[in-house]
Amino acid sequence: MSGQTLNKLSKAMLFQMCETLNIQKYKYRNKTEIIQLIMQGSPTNLIAAPTNLTDVPNNFTFIEVCAGGGGLSAGLIKSGFTPLLLNDNNKDCCKTLQKNHPEANVVCGSMADIDFSPYVDKVDLLTGGVPCQSFSQAGARRGLDDPRGDLMMKFIEILNLVRPKVFMIENVKGLLTHDGGNTIKTIIDTMNQSGEYNIQYMCLDASKFGVPQKRERVFIVGTKKSLTTDFQYPVEQPCKKVLKDVLTDVPASPCAKYSNDKIELYKLIPQGGCWVNLPEDLQRQYLGNSFYSGGGKRGILHRLSMDKPALTLLCTPSQKQTERCHPLEERPLTVREYARIQTFDDNYEFVGSMNSQYKQIGNAVPVTLAHRMGECIKKVLM
Ligand SMILES: C[S@@+](CC[C@H](N)C(=O)[O-])C[C@H]1O[C@@H](n2cnc3c(N)ncnc32)[C@H](O)[C@@H]1O
Repeated sequence: MSGQTLNKLSKAMLFQMCETLNIQKYKYRNKTEIIQLIMQGSPTNLIAAPTNLTDVPNNFTFIEVCAGGGGLSAGLIKSGFTPLLLNDNNKDCCKTLQKNHPEANVVCGSMADIDFSPYVDKVDLLTGGVPCQSFSQAGARRGLDDPRGDLMMKFIEILNLVRPKVFMIENVKGLLTHDGGNTIKTIIDTMNQSGEYNIQYMCLDASKFGVPQKRERVFIVGTKKSLTTDFQYPVEQPCKKVLKDVLTDVPASPCAKYSNDKIELYKLIPQGGCWVNLPEDLQRQYLGNSFYSGGGKRGILHRLSMDKPALTLLCTPSQKQTERCHPLEERPLTVREYARIQTFDDNYEFVGSMNSQYKQIGNAVPVTLAHRMGECIKKVLM
């Protein structure tokens, strides 16, 4: 059949042809790619997942997709898990993972293209910080069903194949309220279809678990119904860590720069303050039209305080709406200060340009929070 003829067919018909031809992974392709696959008439080449299952020490194992620069995996390793496979589709992230976990199998490429079949029924924990861009757009249901690839649905497909004892997904807090709560409901319902797991979710603020940063993230945890112990989320700590606990003797590292004008403005802003601390003429000048819009806009020209946890660190250290100036100096946080606040050890190395390093750190699950989650998951597996 010619490409032109195939192009006239509905997607449902193309999907049916893929089934007949035993073409895998077609759901995560766009129409042009599906047509190409059908014309080739052969199954897509999956990335072969390396397996050295015989070398695995006698402790708990995990696979992580979308592992980024490795905050979650570093924490899980600290809690006693061994990585069987770490995956990301970003080259710098993969190099960072390889550098810090030379013993791990790092697979660089889309999670949608990996052959997970060697791991069926052989993994304790399947996890991932699966990005779900559709949550920030209108119409979550369309997002989840979008065959161009909602990775959340892909994760569920891998889950149904690998059938780990426990799974965990980390995501942004907005997931809970997106589409009036329908998105999270659809995800949990889809995960529940196999009937194999008890599934729960909770939004955790990292600052309540030993991390000097206010960072709220949702953790969905599923445990096999055959396990005898129920999963419990970590217990909040009575005392919060603050920046003065971590911003001392930080090793030298690259740092983004402010313009001279911004440096002069920050000289007028105290710790914990922001644009509201400027004289009114400078406020109007800096904010322009947003001066008249509502909302606190406290992220604008924000200076962190040594006596508080940091605001949530983002992928870039300096953006007009979301500044996080160093508490004592007129500059953004350095790469290593970022890493300290995300509770990475000082010897954890990030590969790539300065911007790439900020991004890997800003995207990460704080290592200490991941460690705490790992300890709670282990209790279910023991
Ligand atoms: C929020 S970050 C994960 C951070 C990680 N959990 C940590 O603690 O460091 C999401 C990651 O997903 C990766 N990613 C996006 N699409 C992907 C795909 N199709 N396959 C694999 N990784 C993907 C991005 O490169 C990014 O590093």
